[in-house]
Amino acid sequence: MRRRDFLAATLAAAAAGLAPRSTRASDSLVEVLLNEPIGVIAPELQGHFTEHIGEVVYGGIWVGENSKIPNVGGVRKALVDRMRQLHAPVIRWPGGCFADTYNWRDGVGPRTARPVRTNFWDNDPQLCHAPDGPQKYDPNTFGTAEFMRFCQLCGAQPYVAANVRSLTPHDFDEWVEYCNSPAGSATLAQTRAADGSREPFNVMYWGIGNESWGCGGDFRPEEYAVEFRRFTSWVPDYGRKLRFIGSGPGASAQDPQVSWTRGFLAHLVPGRPDLLDRLFGLSMHYYCGTTRKGDSLEYTPDEWYQMLWQANVMDSLIDQHWQTMSQFDLDHKVKLVVDEWGAWHRTTPLGPAYLFSYVPSLRDALVSAITLDVFNRHAEKLAMCNDAQLVNNINTLFLAVEDRFVPTTIFHVFDMYKAHQGGRSVRLVCDAPEISYRGEPSGTRVAGGGAGEGEEKQFWRLAGSASLHDKRLIVTVVNSHASDPSAAEVSLRGGEAKSVRVTVLTAPDIHAHNDFDHPDVVVPQPQPTTVSGSRFAWTFPPASATKLEVDLV
Ligand code: AHR
Repeated sequence: MRRRDFLAATLAAAAAGLAPRSTRASDSLVEVLLNEPIGVIAPELQGHFTEHIGEVVYGGIWVGENSKIPNVGGVRKALVDRMRQLHAPVIRWPGGCFADTYNWRDGVGPRTARPVRTNFWDNDPQLCHAPDGPQKYDPNTFGTAEFMRFCQLCGAQPYVAANVRSLTPHDFDEWVEYCNSPAGSATLAQTRAADGSREPFNVMYWGIGNESWGCGGDFRPEEYAVEFRRFTSWVPDYGRKLRFIGSGPGASAQDPQVSWTRGFLAHLVPGRPDLLDRLFGLSMHYYCGTTRKGDSLEYTPDEWYQMLWQANVMDSLIDQHWQTMSQFDLDHKVKLVVDEWGAWHRTTPLGPAYLFSYVPSLRDALVSAITLDVFNRHAEKLAMCNDAQLVNNINTLFLAVEDRFVPTTIFHVFDMYKAHQGGRSVRLVCDAPEISYRGEPSGTRVAGGGAGEGEEKQFWRLAGSASLHDKRLIVTVVNSHASDPSAAEVSLRGGEAKSVRVTVLTAPDIHAHNDFDHPDVVVPQPQPTTVSGSRFAWTFPPASATKLEVDLV
């Protein structure tokens, strides 16, 4: 059956209360092992990231109190409403690379008196084509108090990245003092009160630099270990243990960069195992994608699989870094924090100021679904993960230009997957025929100008994750096949379904996407069903993410 016909038949069958015809003969198995717990899925695994880059902060989040765009104290209201819908757990700020140039003092005090500073990203060639504005010259209107207010409005925890490259530990201590000192105590508590918050912000998560091997200072791992010690010694904690996150590697599909993880820990831990208590988490960044080369909306079926394969590399990266960490931390006190991840494509600018922005498609939705499933399956290893970035950037959940605002395909994945937050991840295994496709050509181009043919490769057809919440089981499954449905038997080992609610995110065209003029092309659709029992048939549509919400007997 062709993909389009299949979708029509499935929807018609569903509307008639029937299982789609193709479910009667399954070629695949999705098995949930309810008695094989992995770990609790920290809500923070569905965290976000916002940087002073392009139109993320200015334009995306901050529109100003006097804007015609509906806002709450200067913050875009539509964004806040959607973040609340997601139960957004945590937001990282102010970078990214920007963090290691940022002087937090520039962003406190009366807004009109704050200095204008050249933004870190001003060096990016794309900004040459943009008019002067906050993307090049940051007015510091959005500072610490504004970010905290944004977090409070969203119901999210703040996660603040310190400047290790160009400020001192003393500056860091004072930023913590500004944020966390008790009401009416230190002078900086009074500065904070004048900025609108008498009560402390109680920021718990602090990143010690960002990409310290690169834009964050070009440190070697042994040098960064020294900086980490200096920055985390005797930071004022006001009776609450702060959660310091060490700057980790920038992994790629070709090179996991475990040498950074090993080098850093080898210089931090020996002789001072107590220092592990100071390291709440070690970060890792992984961007998949065509990294600035390929278009987010134009791709062949082979390129579809190439991208999904890259997203899936996250699985082995987590394993590899975890193994390396275990050499220094046998008890695994320290968790991994994937505080930047996403699909990075060539910018398709909404305007030159919109650095790294593109319109995400159904392919990016599946990249995100695959990644969130991977996180769930590694729940015992991960403390936090942050999608890069929230709005108008890489792997973005929202596009926002002036008063136009649209949730992307990626937003809808987060909306479906929020049901996993706080659940106990249990093992899920899939058995389905693999898909053959052509991998990326090894050279860039062959003579004659066309792209060379890559080797034949295989990719899985079905994968997912499952979480238990008392008598409710959440199962999410990606069918990666670009055109074929997958008729599966769903087996609940150690449980029985009383009833099942199904939601599917897909579209007839693998290039489908939401934009300002077509906001609802890719949105989750409930699928009526009457399946129950410990084994039942379900057909996963092509190119889809599916959520099964199971009420257990
Ligand atoms: O997310 C964009 C940039 O990618 C971040 O600033 C940096 O940390 C990473 O290299």
